[in-house]
Amino acid sequence: MLSYRHSFHAGNFADVLKHIILIKILEHLKKKDKPFCCIDTHAGPGEYALDEGYALKNREFENGIGKLWQRDDLPDSVANYVNFIKKFNNTDELSRYPGSPLIIKQFLRNKDRLFLYELHSTEIELLSAAVNRDRRIKVFHADGLKNVLGLLPPNEHRGMILIDPSYEIKSDYNLVIETLIQMHKRFATGTYALWYPVVERSRNKHLEKAIKNSGIKNVQLFELGIKTDTHEHGMTASGMIVVNPPWTLAADIQQILPWLADVLGIDGAGLYRIETLVGE
Ligand SMILES: C[S@@+](CC[C@H](N)C(=O)[O-])C[C@H]1O[C@@H](n2cnc3c(N)ncnc32)[C@H](O)[C@@H]1O
Repeated sequence: MLSYRHSFHAGNFADVLKHIILIKILEHLKKKDKPFCCIDTHAGPGEYALDEGYALKNREFENGIGKLWQRDDLPDSVANYVNFIKKFNNTDELSRYPGSPLIIKQFLRNKDRLFLYELHSTEIELLSAAVNRDRRIKVFHADGLKNVLGLLPPNEHRGMILIDPSYEIKSDYNLVIETLIQMHKRFATGTYALWYPVVERSRNKHLEKAIKNSGIKNVQLFELGIKTDTHEHGMTASGMIVVNPPWTLAADIQQILPWLADVLGIDGAGLYRIETLVGE
């Protein structure tokens, strides 16, 4: 029984980095005329209200999109992301936040396709309503990790797979790596973006080691932390591990990650990592 609801966390510092990187990958895919296919293995409800309900419980968005919203000194890639969220809100008030499905949808051309997986029975209904009958998009009420292999390789032979679990179940850490290896065997040229939280650093070390030993090449890691590591409860940092990233991604993220760590870090404790986990 799944209890995780992303609405508590929407627009927080982790979503900021995740969605900036997602937008960068989508912009890169759109540069070529050839169609692409995207798969979101853990789609969530598609969009979030920030002015009511769960988001107001801990107000996590305030130390994320909320802190960037009114600034006029944003570095280019952050400004690009904030403008995207402003267009989504259609007003100067920050009251809504798009999830990955609606961000990806915005980049689809008529020839592109998007496959969304969501397991939670409430979230799947919200998701279906949010994407609102679009012939380019297929929504599955199913386990993304178990079913994604059936879609690979996509006919387009170009595309991105976003893997964004909540890591509610500890076995998710092993499962994502096993699935990533299987996916990569079927579709070695795809771009894979795997989100991870830092709650207990030893689990991240294990995850990174497993990727380094997997045989998968061309892997970069981008991490943003707002507090130093702790053994107590709660996420202090999070990041994205990207397989086959756009070739400009590392340089682009280098331009903004120190700034984000400075602005979103709590009491000056912001930190970041940009690393090539495995070379080309
Ligand atoms: C972190 S949230 C997704 C957020 C979303 N990708 C975004 O960026 O807006 C993770 C979602 O995965 C769902 N989930 C958990 N395990 C899953 C699985 N095995 N397959 C599909 N969805 C799953 C949860 O119900 C939750 O809605």
